Amino acid sequence: MTRSLIGLLVLSNVLLFVSWRFVIVASDSQFGDLVTTTSSLDEDGNPTDIGDVYPQSIPGIARQGMQVYVSMGCISCHTQLVRLEGFGNDLARKWGKRPSVPRDYIRQSQPLLGRFRMGPDLANAGTRDELTQEALHLHLYSPQADSPDSICQPNPFLYEVREIEGDKTPGAIDLGNGNEILPRPRAMKLVAYLRSLRQDYDLPEMPMQVELPDDAGAPPTTPPPATTVSGKQENNESKK
Ligand code: HEC
Repeated sequence: MTRSLIGLLVLSNVLLFVSWRFVIVASDSQFGDLVTTTSSLDEDGNPTDIGDVYPQSIPGIARQGMQVYVSMGCISCHTQLVRLEGFGNDLARKWGKRPSVPRDYIRQSQPLLGRFRMGPDLANAGTRDELTQEALHLHLYSPQADSPDSICQPNPFLYEVREIEGDKTPGAIDLGNGNEILPRPRAMKLVAYLRSLRQDYDLPEMPMQVELPDDAGAPPTTPPPATTVSGKQENNESKK
């Protein structure tokens, strides 16, 4: 009886040790040594000693916005991870110009990969021309104003609504109905965070993919002359 108990104890310890080695030690040796690197690569894909260093740390206000993002549950619907080709259509949807890799997250104490993807991936929200500061505030105030069926949560409590008397207040956003919204500090931090989200730099293990995989149209940097903005969006839809 005692002998079989000791045997069981030894066996469970061995199993624990083996799984610890695989999960902790193996992951650490694979990812633990990743450091920042310059975004300029030579023809062999090795970093040169010129160029900015990436990933960069995010500015203070955006760092505070990250806490707002977590506390408001945005991670329950939004991911921040551009998947590899073959694991989804993230590149064709123009959610990024290259897949995300572990090095992208080394400066984040809490990588916010997300739990579910109910809304668009936000890994490159800060690089998207249409997501201006004003557009983001309008979206956060009322996502349904732009897309009536949106399930993205409205956050009116992040704004002060005022009637416009004379000129619009500096920093406020015109709602187009005689009222304006003035972002409260939490809204300003959250938008600074969203605008800081970008994975648009070369890394030795994953350079930018300027040519999109199924590129029937054109990469964002060189739009075809005759295509309108709405035409491009339709094009995107058909790639989903
Ligand atoms: C219940 C799920 C849900 C939650 C929670 C949620 N979102 Fe969304 N979000 C969506 C969906 C779905 C869309 C796409 C439809 C739309 O544009 O409204 C979206 C769109 C967006 C967009 C526009 C992205 C683009 O590519 O056009 C931004 C930015 C955004 N959400 C930010 C947030 C932030 C910040 C939070 C937390 C305060 C949040 N969302 C919480 C579901 C959600």
